Amino acid sequence: MNIQSTDLSGVDVLAEIERLRKERNAVILAHYYQKPEIQDLADFVGDSLQLSQQAAETDADVIAFCGVKFMADTAKILSPEKIVVLPDLEAGCSLEDSCPPEKFKAFREAHPDHIALTYINCSTEVKALSDVIVTSSSAETILQQIPKDQKIIFGPDRHLGGYLSRKFDREMLLWPGVCIVHEAFSETELLKLKAQHPGAPIAAHPECPPTILDHADHIGSTSSILNFAKTFEGDTLIVATEPHIIHQMEKALPGKTFIGAPGADGNCACNICPYMALNTLEKLYICLRDLEPRIEIEENLRLAAKKSLDKMLDMASGTVGMGDLGAR
Ligand code: 13P
Ligand code: SF4
Repeated sequence: MNIQSTDLSGVDVLAEIERLRKERNAVILAHYYQKPEIQDLADFVGDSLQLSQQAAETDADVIAFCGVKFMADTAKILSPEKIVVLPDLEAGCSLEDSCPPEKFKAFREAHPDHIALTYINCSTEVKALSDVIVTSSSAETILQQIPKDQKIIFGPDRHLGGYLSRKFDREMLLWPGVCIVHEAFSETELLKLKAQHPGAPIAAHPECPPTILDHADHIGSTSSILNFAKTFEGDTLIVATEPHIIHQMEKALPGKTFIGAPGADGNCACNICPYMALNTLEKLYICLRDLEPRIEIEENLRLAAKKSLDKMLDMASGTVGMGDLGAR
């Protein structure tokens, strides 16, 4: 969105967001990778699974989604009657970009005996071509419900897929996508940092490459890393995921030290997600004011994508089996 042309001088952006969220009956959802000032005013801050659950359950009329586009798309797929706005429509994701629907469709067609277990970081079209969606906090529970002899395509994150494959000793066909943020952590710099803080455990997101995961004391989704931060013994934690999550850690545990894992230049700034960073308070104000940019999804596509998302929401509770899930 071009907000250069919008003159906000004289506008009390925070007060206007407060006024508009009530007037619009809006809920503000934010991912842990959002800027602290956005996390602090959100009604709910969470990981991808929690945000999907909130989007499916809210009785608000408007969802202002402070995250990236595939997350706002997910909210619209699950709550089509609601207005879903995203502060900046350019907030994409390198994993989504790595997996064009036509190529994914051809890949599926080349492996008709495989089901597609797909990371939520993908387009609505790819969700519609998938059998079950997973997030990093639901993937393990869901994978364990799929019979051992069922062949699986896992996309688009090859690192999350590789991690699951190693942990559960399951061969999967991996789509070759990566998250540019987690890919940028440097093993050499991480080991230098660890040498400076030998007692500090390392918590890492499974989107990191194995060279980073091999050194981690805890591997999990953003909410799982946050829980680990709240319970680990010791006073310093090295965090190998997008560093804005440290805001929640510092709020919950002001006496402890949280250090973002470094990138190749030894400076963790390269691990800030450039897509998440596009959202600002000003853009949040404008999208609540104008109810634009708005997410719209063609109904047949939405219904097709909803099947694999509903399957995730059911299976994530661990109580529902594969049901009618089968290879296409
Ligand atoms: P989770 O919050 O589900 O761990 O996902 C991380 C992420 O990369 C979101 O884009
Ligand atoms: Fe996508 Fe990585 Fe940014 Fe998450 S952190 S939105 S996976 S690019």
